[in-house]
Amino acid sequence: MCGIVGFTGKSAAAPFLLEGLHKLEYRGYDSAGISVIENSVINTEKTVGRIKALSEQTNAGALTPGFVGVGHTRWATHGAPSIENAHPHLSGKRKFAVVHNGIIENYAILREQLIGEGVKFVSETDTEVVPHLLEKYYDGDLIKAVSKVVNLLEGSFALGIICTDFPDTLVAARRFSPLIIGISENANIIASDVTAIASVTKDIIYLDDNEIAVLTPEKAEVFDLSGNKISKDLSKITWDVSAAEKGGFEYFMMKEIHEQPHAVKQTLSGRIKNGEVVFEDFSLTTEKLKSINRIVIIACGSAYHAGIVGKYVIEEMVRIPCEVDLASESRYRKPIINDKTLTIVISQSGETADTLAALREAKRLGSHTVSVVNVVGSSIAKASDDCIYTWAGPEIAVATTKGYSTQIAVMYLFAAWLAKHLGTKDDKYIADFLSEVKALPQKIEEILSLEGLLKEMAKRSVNDESLFFIGRNIDYAVSLEASLKLKEISYIHSEAYAAGELKHGTISLIEENRTVFALTCYKALADKMLSNIKEVSARGAYVITCANEGDTDFEKESNQMIYVPRVHELLVASTEVIPFQIYAYYVAYHKGCDIDKPRNLAKSVTVE
Ligand code: F6R
Repeated sequence: MCGIVGFTGKSAAAPFLLEGLHKLEYRGYDSAGISVIENSVINTEKTVGRIKALSEQTNAGALTPGFVGVGHTRWATHGAPSIENAHPHLSGKRKFAVVHNGIIENYAILREQLIGEGVKFVSETDTEVVPHLLEKYYDGDLIKAVSKVVNLLEGSFALGIICTDFPDTLVAARRFSPLIIGISENANIIASDVTAIASVTKDIIYLDDNEIAVLTPEKAEVFDLSGNKISKDLSKITWDVSAAEKGGFEYFMMKEIHEQPHAVKQTLSGRIKNGEVVFEDFSLTTEKLKSINRIVIIACGSAYHAGIVGKYVIEEMVRIPCEVDLASESRYRKPIINDKTLTIVISQSGETADTLAALREAKRLGSHTVSVVNVVGSSIAKASDDCIYTWAGPEIAVATTKGYSTQIAVMYLFAAWLAKHLGTKDDKYIADFLSEVKALPQKIEEILSLEGLLKEMAKRSVNDESLFFIGRNIDYAVSLEASLKLKEISYIHSEAYAAGELKHGTISLIEENRTVFALTCYKALADKMLSNIKEVSARGAYVITCANEGDTDFEKESNQMIYVPRVHELLVASTEVIPFQIYAYYVAYHKGCDIDKPRNLAKSVTVE
């Protein structure tokens, strides 16, 4: 997720671009840049850091005069945060400057073709193909060149484009990434969302997919990809703009819960091809893999829980022993890791001190290391031999939701990749499994509609002093995450237990009206779970069961049911965790807790 802005008007462009980018910083903030046309020359300023630094560098825009410009605040996906990778990106002859939000999935092919034609690239980004393609196809007709290029692109994008031959024109295009046009008397502008526009105007046009907007200070025209003019309605911004960066949600956590279908889609984007998984730039070879006799997954907190899901899926599909270790334990235990061990470290922030130290230790001991990280260019991403980015976009709420969901999505991809390369599952199994993985965003979307029901249900737990989550196999892995989510934001004590382990001690804590959540979606052990539910309900527990749609056997033994859509047995964590994120959120909400910033916690734990 990045933020883009563009301006064409009768006053200086840069002050608007800087102010707009500042408003969009919540969408990403690892680097930023602006390009403004003055005397038919594009002047560009970039920084690795926040908009404040860019503003100082340009003396609040005074050093980049001109009336037409584009700006960008970046959340790195392709290439680490650096000046070269920061937007805007320019064409070879500096005729075009482009800002982009989204992911161009076929950029590698386009880039190769352009390099073959002698084009020199200065960045590692997917975006840079766009200005070079524009220069290639431009013959004096700007709209024709933009249409041609947009037709060549696959993936998602919102683009802001300026061209030195049209010193009063701003062009925008979009497909699957947000872009809004603001209309005012003295300027026409574009931005990724209304927060960046509202200070200038309340009159907006929503650009739709596969549309191109051509703006000058006087007019705003919209075209389809064949160059036909489209008539668009003007809308008014009527809602509270200060809430806009939270997308109308009261807290970032709920916004991020709702972003999960999109985030998981991004994680999978471009990685499933012809029924198998492709990781670009991977150095782990099949030959090396064949020498591996053990996998160790290392992480902290929710990332550790994602690792436990990974263990169950990998062991089932690949039949290699897989151990999950807490980074803070691993690093001080003289771990038994060597060159026959494959080490996977998982970290949303990529900066967690214990995870980084454990990764370095694993490398020192000769292990090949693969990291699963959200923040591009972070320390863990850089220190590992291979990195699989989760591409979840910035996660602001301290309690992770989309971070976790995208980490487990990577676990599925990695398990399928291992199974293919080690030949432990046949091609049909892998292709079928991956088509079920691809269906997950839609299933998650369906579960989000349970929000109203869960909001009501959560009132019950406001008075709970302690509660339990029980499950087996992957259901147990999800219980750990569900329990952590609840306790960290609502401050209610809770325990996650492997359901079969209850009777070895903890069942003594079950008493009249104690809330027990039973997770039963892992079908192979559903019968066993039914027995465990009977055990706790016989002792007075108030049982809330989460089951697959249609599994009504649990109703008789449960006080309440939560149903989620049925998915492949190894993928149940992706559906089952969602209601518990929402439940935890609403318990904290009803209790009036500071949901995005729970007490004593920090988003990135860079100290041990
Ligand atoms: C819980 C949570 C934490 C993190 C943990 C690891 O909601 O967010 O438990 O999962 O601190 O952080 P990363 O993934 O950044 O290494």
